[in-house]
Amino acid sequence: MTKINWAGFAKKNPKERLSQIKPLLSKESYYILENKILLKQDIASQIVENTLGTFALPFSVVPEIEVNHQNYTVPFVTEEPSVVAACSFASKIIKRSGGFKATVHNRQMIGQIALYDIKQIDQAINAIKKQKKQLLAIANSAHPSIVKRGGGAIDIKTNLIEDESPLLVVQVLIDTKEAMGANIVNTMTEALKPYLEILTNGKSLMAILSNYATESLVTATCAINYRFLNRDKIKAKEFSERIVLASNFAKKDPYRASTHNKGIFNGIDAVCIATGNDWRAIEAGAHAYASKNGRYEGLTTWRLDEANEKLLGEITLPLPLATKGGSIGLNPSVLVAFDILGNPDAKILASIVASVGLAQNFAALRALVTEGIQEGHMKLHARSLALLAGCLPNEVPFIVDLLLKEKHKNLSTAEKILENYRNNTLE
Ligand code: HMG
Repeated sequence: MTKINWAGFAKKNPKERLSQIKPLLSKESYYILENKILLKQDIASQIVENTLGTFALPFSVVPEIEVNHQNYTVPFVTEEPSVVAACSFASKIIKRSGGFKATVHNRQMIGQIALYDIKQIDQAINAIKKQKKQLLAIANSAHPSIVKRGGGAIDIKTNLIEDESPLLVVQVLIDTKEAMGANIVNTMTEALKPYLEILTNGKSLMAILSNYATESLVTATCAINYRFLNRDKIKAKEFSERIVLASNFAKKDPYRASTHNKGIFNGIDAVCIATGNDWRAIEAGAHAYASKNGRYEGLTTWRLDEANEKLLGEITLPLPLATKGGSIGLNPSVLVAFDILGNPDAKILASIVASVGLAQNFAALRALVTEGIQEGHMKLHARSLALLAGCLPNEVPFIVDLLLKEKHKNLSTAEKILENYRNNTLE
């Protein structure tokens, strides 16, 4: 594993950062970053419709996240100030406390075929059970390439939705290997539709994958020594207890849970975007999972291990992430992102991303229950305000310094400060 000296990384300029992380990059990735090669217009036009151009966002890295005793440098694409700083801050503390432990419980997708107008439901369910082998063979013959790669349809279940017009839902479990699998699952389930209509003597309503990927669950945990929360032992314990209270708050109140989980997705989405993954699918699945107990809840749990003076964190969520397929091979920035990560497989990527979510949540909760979120966030958001006020890049540090001393740190204050600054420097 390549060792990088990360000292001072945050304070360097992008060119210096690039040379610092050079040992992590292949020649191709270094060339892409050095020459600022982005997604080309003609490729973009092949990926989606009606393109006018491409759309850029900041591409950053979180230097070191330790997961299962391996260090990863993690690419983040986000427009929000303080997200990268917060994750870097948290993962540094967690690394000093032994890093993250992550477990991928499974990595399968679920496809659904909904059938209606079935006169004899019990008979239909029995027929599906009896024909399971044949149905799996039909599904697999619709997408033979995934079977060649060692994946494919592996199980079929039924679920009856009792209603005025009952629906019989056939669920197909599919191992999509390194792909997120939307096309594989949709092709297979659509191929099954006509056979299921005959078998059940019913009509098919639709066939589509489910983003509620309960067969792709990942858990990440960490155990943070109290002392990393404050040098003062009493305060460190108090802050840990307050984080536990904050975790309970998000379990009990959906208004809080929504914000709590948004903070988790600050990091998860940033890695999903950098790696060309479908973050809407990941969010939809995780928000559904957050409601599995009948109420929308926070996705993380924090508790105390008083005997060992540790704060224990845990997150479990569905993460059917892809390393192949979709637009992953088409965007040069995505190739660089995978290179920086060390080209992990889908299960390792899911372990890293779950850990990012837990780190992001720890940073936000630590700030919220101690100095408040604005202290750290505004320090970094002030740079965006300065730019929005019209600062030239060389003016930004001066305006940020002055803005941070103001009570009302907003755009109009930034504009007034800039005007005064320019008047004074011109005199
Ligand atoms: P600090 O104590 O002032 O940081 O915290 P520091 O200057 O002592 O630096 C400590 C480390 O943080 C650095 O180590 C970096 O790793 C990182 P060093 O490199 O110096 O050895 N770091 C940075 N990395 C890159 N660029 C930077 C930078 N600054 C620090 N400029 C910090 C500052 C922002 C980390 C802290 O206040 C924090 O974690 N705040 C939380 C911020 C946050 O969560 N932001 C997300 C947006 S708010 C939101 O949307 C979510 C929320 O609503 C979710 C919820 O409610 O649960 C809050």
